[in-house]
Amino acid sequence: MTYTIIHTIHIFSVFIYGGFLFVDILFLSKMKHTLGKEEHKVAREAIMMHVRKVVPYALMIAVASGVYMFLNVFGEISSEGMTSFQIMLSIKAFLGLWLGLRGVNQKLFGINPWVFKSHFFPFSLVVIIIFLSQMMYL
Ligand code: HEM
Repeated sequence: MTYTIIHTIHIFSVFIYGGFLFVDILFLSKMKHTLGKEEHKVAREAIMMHVRKVVPYALMIAVASGVYMFLNVFGEISSEGMTSFQIMLSIKAFLGLWLGLRGVNQKLFGINPWVFKSHFFPFSLVVIIIFLSQMMYL
């Protein structure tokens, strides 16, 4: 029961975090083509002021719930080595933790994202993570 609740929390928080990245990359980034530079800045800030209050915390919840589930489902590594599930889950967890670390650094310590500044980078990682999350069960 606890696992199911944590799993559901993971899905919702991933929805909020990933959902914002999808909306930003697919739609918000296009605003600059239809609005003037100043208008675009104001419009984007009007959205971002609400995003900053929710999205970074959704990411932190996604990571915390992910770590809980990881510890429950990863299992023992057999003498033949890791299963494909364990390999894919490890890659997914590594990418998720990296995003989480970036988010915590940015939100709590004011350190700007490691490596890339645009949302295209976290967006791409989320797409890969979602693929891995499904493929790992095959
Ligand atoms: C932003 C980062 C993350 C995204 C976008 C993400 C996305 C997802 C998605 C889409 C699923 C599949 C849910 C389903 O089909 O029911 C999932 C499951 C899972 N995630 Fe994450 N995740 C993230 C971070 C993490 C982290 C950091 C960890 C571990 C350290 C983790 C561990 C897991 C585990 C163990 C499952 C399998 C749960 C199960 O099926 O029982 N996730 N994640």
